Amino acid sequence: MAHFRLVAIPGDGVGPEVVEAAAGVLDAAVAAAGGRIEWQEIIVGGRAIDAYGVAIQPEDVETCRSADAVLLGAVGGAKWDDPKAPVRPEQALFALRGGLGLFANLRPVSVHPALMDSSPLRPALLRDVDLLMVRELTGGIYFGERTEAGDGAENRAASDSLPYSEAEVRRIVRLAFELATARRRKVTQVDKANVLATSRLWRQVTDEVARAFPDVSLEHRLVDSTAMLLVTRPAAFDVIVTENLFGDILSDEASVLAGSLGMLPSASLGERQTTHGTFGLYEPIHGSAPDIAGQDVANPIGTILSCAMLLRWSLGLAEAADAVERAVAAALDDGFRTRDLMPEHASLAAHLIPVGTRGMAAAIGERLTAPAAVGR
Ligand code: IPM
Ligand code: MG
Repeated sequence: MAHFRLVAIPGDGVGPEVVEAAAGVLDAAVAAAGGRIEWQEIIVGGRAIDAYGVAIQPEDVETCRSADAVLLGAVGGAKWDDPKAPVRPEQALFALRGGLGLFANLRPVSVHPALMDSSPLRPALLRDVDLLMVRELTGGIYFGERTEAGDGAENRAASDSLPYSEAEVRRIVRLAFELATARRRKVTQVDKANVLATSRLWRQVTDEVARAFPDVSLEHRLVDSTAMLLVTRPAAFDVIVTENLFGDILSDEASVLAGSLGMLPSASLGERQTTHGTFGLYEPIHGSAPDIAGQDVANPIGTILSCAMLLRWSLGLAEAADAVERAVAAALDDGFRTRDLMPEHASLAAHLIPVGTRGMAAAIGERLTAPAAVGR
């Protein structure tokens, strides 16, 4: 029996609820594949600031490093929100990303046909949307040198620097091309090459990488134009590869296509291989949503689909991953909706089944194990 070691980081706000819901689905999917998960839970984010005075303890980063994969809910909340505070929840994310070398952040966006009415975009624009955002996650302005303005000084000034090396660009761009070969074979590399020196480096390196992938078409596109096209012609994109900050912004924009931020999963991958696959950290795109925490209303689908990515990438269980994705689609087809997915008009909501976090996870779990649900 295959045995997997996973770390759970429930985090803050709705994090614990969505992680608990998704872990149940993940356990069931692994059990159905004849395996077993050994979970270890660690305290990270705002709760860690309260408990230990830091957003993540160094030994907890090491615990993650020795696992097969990490499942994270969300971190942060009003209590720890002061951007000037020396200790902040998101520092945990940077310690995990940087410390574990998780340079590749994959954020797939597709639109389930039943949810087209939940998106603010017209259904005609959403047809055939199936894109993969590949965001560089351990470089650029997030990790560059900073000087703070300081308090009270006159003529305050601050600076952030945006460094990239050729090697950092090459490894993420190569991954984007590899992923594109298994998709629609199109890569859009996004930058601001009319202004930024790092963007010009990205273009050069991307052109060099592209030579090894003659079957994949490549376009370079400026980030401002990409922002516009994401909402005017989203179906035109296949794989989008870009640097850290542009990827952060564009992936939130792309998430509105799916109808709710609560739908979207992500995987952060590094180079380390385990006996089962590639080590990675998996989390929904959404934040900790403290306003709805503890009420059993958060949508667990982003976390459950993150578990599908975990199965595929880190545990080597591609069929189990497909089964989880089919179970999510089947639950939506059968009308189950968390609050964020409910259409505004009562007429559209009439045949739908309102559920909470647990109810949605249960509906997905039932469709995972019942063979009749497969292939719907
Ligand atoms: C994300 C988030 C983080 C980021 C924040 C919380 C620092 O927005 O994962 O996209 O900017 O990377
Ligand atoms: Mg973000």
